[in-house]
This record gives sequence, C-alpha cells and structure tokens, in this order.
Amino acid sequence: MKNNAILQIPSLNWSNKDNLLVYEKTPIFKLKECAAISGLDSCCDLRLIHQYIQRSSSILEIGAGAGRVLDYLINSNYQGEISAVECCQNYCQQLLKRFGQKISVYCQNLLRLSLPKQFDLILWMWSGIADFAPAEHLLALKNLLSTLTDHGILIFDTLDPTVTPAATKYNQGQEYYIDIKYGIIRTYSVTKQELDQYAKKLHFIEKKQLHYTATNGKERILHIVKKA
Ligand SMILES: C[S@@+](CC[C@H](N)C(=O)[O-])C[C@H]1O[C@@H](n2cnc3c(N)ncnc32)[C@H](O)[C@@H]1O
Repeated sequence: MKNNAILQIPSLNWSNKDNLLVYEKTPIFKLKECAAISGLDSCCDLRLIHQYIQRSSSILEIGAGAGRVLDYLINSNYQGEISAVECCQNYCQQLLKRFGQKISVYCQNLLRLSLPKQFDLILWMWSGIADFAPAEHLLALKNLLSTLTDHGILIFDTLDPTVTPAATKYNQGQEYYIDIKYGIIRTYSVTKQELDQYAKKLHFIEKKQLHYTATNGKERILHIVKKA
C-alpha cells in the first residue's frame, strides 16, 4: 500500500537559542541571499527611516549579521557614532574584520545585553523580534529600552502578521519554519495586540508605524518606538 506522506510538524518548543545554532552554520553569502529573498537587499527599509538616522548622533544595530545595515549607514555618509551587536561568532569576527576600525562591534547576546553606554537610535531590522519565541520578547525589549537614551528612538521591523514569510516550510498559527538550507529558522509573527501589551508592561509608546512593501512584494511594518 502506498504510504501517504505525512507532514512532520516540528516541535513548537523552541527558543532563540535554536535559531542561533542555525545562524552559526549559515555562511555570510547565504545570509545575503536570504536578505534578497526577503526583499530587503535593496535597503528599502532603511531608506524609509533616513530622517531618523540623520537626526541621531549615535546608532546601535542589533543582530548586524552580514553588515547590510552597517554598509548602508557608512555608504550614506552617516556622521554619528555607530555600534553593532551580534552574537554569532562567525558573523562577529567578520564584522570586526570589516568594520572594526570605524565602529564598535560587541559580540553579545541581546538577551544578556550589557553595553557601556546608551544610544539615540536603536535599529532592530529585518524581523529581529521574529527570531525570538514569545516568552523571550519582554526580556529582549526590556534590554533594548534600557540601552536607549531617555529621548531615544527604537525602530524594529515586523512582517505584517497576515503575511507568510518567504521560504516558509511549515506554519502553525503565528509560528513559521523557514528553510534556509543550513537548518530551519523558527519565527514568530507578533500581533498589534501583543505589542500593545508589551508597551503597557515596559512603558513604551509606539509613535508611528510605517507600512511598506519589500521588493519581494511582502507587506512589512516598521515600528517607531520611544520610552513613555
Ligand atoms: C535576519 S538577520 C538580520 C541581519 C541584519 N540586522 C539585517 O537587517 O540585515 C538576524 C541576525 O540577528 C542575529 N541574532 C539573532 N539572535 C540574536 C541574539 N539573541 N543576540 C544577538 N544577535 C542575534 C543573528 O545572528 C543574525 O545575524
């Protein structure tokens, strides 16, 4: 008898740590390829927030990966101070090699963030929050807010929660399993209701949402946040 293929849904028990194991195995060229598949290699997200970038005197990027955001900041002749956090050893070494003379690179995990100063603008782009399980969201956001100056701005990107991420293999509710060849990245699409709850708990205000369409046609949102 022919065996009907059963779709194996992976365990929903995951955390950001599982994704880090996959990033550790993923070479830089593949991460760049993923940025193109996600429609962000054109830096359409960064062009939208150009005014916030130009107005700030210090910027911290979280999860700098292959250096897409850092390249944009340097190529757009940003004159302020630039810092970056990345916790994958391979990416961190490459970032230090490429940018270490010009910017401060911290090889740290966002969930244990400890930096010597605060920043005017923090950028957590390309669905940074989606890389974390919902149980980790409050700690990640709390660490970011404590690294932000009192009048500083935090900008983070999410996919529109009704949109399926590119290269999705399975999904279960708000959780998506994305095959990037070197492993499966688990993501969680946060909703407006969840973000409102986080804002209440952590005392931040969403000043603005910028809705945009990435070059792969997928709707995304940039959240512009400040301390309450
Ligand atoms: C999708 S890539 C985004 C790269 C870059 N921010 C961009 O917009 O092009 C996500 C990056 O976040 C990093 N990352 C994931 N979890 C992290 C954590 N807990 N602490 C620091 N970096 C993390 C990953 O290693 C990866 O480089």
